[in-house]
Amino acid sequence: MNLLKELPLRDEEVAPVDNSPIKELALMSDEDVAAPDLFEMPAPLPYPVAAVDVEETRDGFPVLPARPGAQALHWVGRDDAVISPSYTRSYPFVMDHGKGSEVWDIDGDRYLDFTAGVAVLATGHTHPAIVKAIQQQAEKFIHMAGTDFYMAQPVELAERLIGHAPGTFSKRVFFTNSGTESIEAAMKLARWHTRRPVLVSFFGAFHGRTYGSMSLSNSKALHRTGFQPLLAGIQQVPYPYHYRCPLGGNHAEADCGLACVEYIEKVTFKYQVSPSEVAAFIIEPIQGEGGYVVPPSSFYPALRALADKYDIPLVVDEIQSGMGRTGKMFAIEHWGVTPDVICLAKGIASGVPLGAVIAREDLMTWPSGAHANTFGGNPLAVAAALATLDLLETELIANAAAMGAYIMPRIKEWEQRYSFVGNVRGIGLMIGAELVEDKQTKEYAGELRDAIVDQCFKRGLLLLGAGKSVIRFCPPLVITKDELDEGLSILEAVMDEFEAQRHGGTSVVGS
Ligand SMILES: Cc1ncc(COP(=O)(O)O)c(C=O)c1O
Repeated sequence: MNLLKELPLRDEEVAPVDNSPIKELALMSDEDVAAPDLFEMPAPLPYPVAAVDVEETRDGFPVLPARPGAQALHWVGRDDAVISPSYTRSYPFVMDHGKGSEVWDIDGDRYLDFTAGVAVLATGHTHPAIVKAIQQQAEKFIHMAGTDFYMAQPVELAERLIGHAPGTFSKRVFFTNSGTESIEAAMKLARWHTRRPVLVSFFGAFHGRTYGSMSLSNSKALHRTGFQPLLAGIQQVPYPYHYRCPLGGNHAEADCGLACVEYIEKVTFKYQVSPSEVAAFIIEPIQGEGGYVVPPSSFYPALRALADKYDIPLVVDEIQSGMGRTGKMFAIEHWGVTPDVICLAKGIASGVPLGAVIAREDLMTWPSGAHANTFGGNPLAVAAALATLDLLETELIANAAAMGAYIMPRIKEWEQRYSFVGNVRGIGLMIGAELVEDKQTKEYAGELRDAIVDQCFKRGLLLLGAGKSVIRFCPPLVITKDELDEGLSILEAVMDEFEAQRHGGTSVVGS
């Protein structure tokens, strides 16, 4: 994507400054844009960092500055020349700084952040307690390799995570650097412990992009295309996505979860793989990238019972749904089910890279040297995680529950208000609105979703999609009612526009 070619510059801002580098970049072809000399970085363009002044209105909507501004375009152009094209940027937001649920781009324009850096910033941007914890730790030491030396900080964090994990049995923790690494560790642990080869994952799952986690995942064929062959010994089974039954059935919601578990036992275990060869079920309690899919209440108790029947460890991937996002520390707690292994990352350290695997002690019995890493349990990340836990425990888990309960009725009402909102679901501050072309056929409205997300960006609200046509809401857990109201009002104004367009009304969208 070369956004320089696609996006107009802001005339009024470009005029007074020497913008020749931008114009030159804009006129270059892809081939011409050689890697810039990184040792002579041009200074950022001298635009004032000012609050947006909203004076005029058009059809009741504020007329905001065209976004992105010229500095953003400048950096998007340079990014386009040197950064891997495999990234999936939805729109050209170039971060400058953030505070809580607000962020400012490099042109000084303010946005509300309903993405939390993809469900990572549990405590919001630059929470003073997190910044202080990182600073204090940085002054003491930054790294010492927990795999070879002892450190107090990871021990303290492990003890506190274990204290939060469901189940009264003893547990142990392995620290990682990311979500995918937590999943890889859990896959290895399950195979090592059971000495069984097969890992069972679910349709629509997303567990990461390294070979093991990618092999478990199947939320998008693109993630696998060109990367075959994948890891052997993976079996995929239906996930109870009630709005779009993976079994092609028409079960009542109460039966939907049971139907999927029954399928695993009666079909998968009978025709495809013997349960005696299954090392683990690996599952997202609420599917994230697959579209914020919430299983019905019957599902997890039945899956737990099936796992117990065949002595199969239950591994939950709480990388997106964990750390208080759903109004409980771990989403699986909403079903009252105790997993054997919990995989964590994202929100655990408020944006400093860290992951963790919490496992039953009698399962995490691999010997010294069987698995390790260099950076896992990095003290800066652990300091941020300890401060994150303090905030989650004292206020933020409760705030996630309260704010989720506050916005859910308003978002749910969209199913009636908009012809293209097919299904709204979620718990706490993990909410998805699935858009469809037609409520009867449920044809995915992916292009419409992308257009709505893009319009929201232009009006100062950062959103992300999930699945084929879901708008996802995963704001920082510090978000306030006023901020939620402000963001939802922007989104509703945009969706009203698209609704009017559908009915032949005039629209500012696309103008
Ligand atoms: C549920 C889940 N598991 C695993 C991952 C992979 O995490 P990471 O990108 O840190 O490797 C993600 C990332 O989006 C996720 O949502």
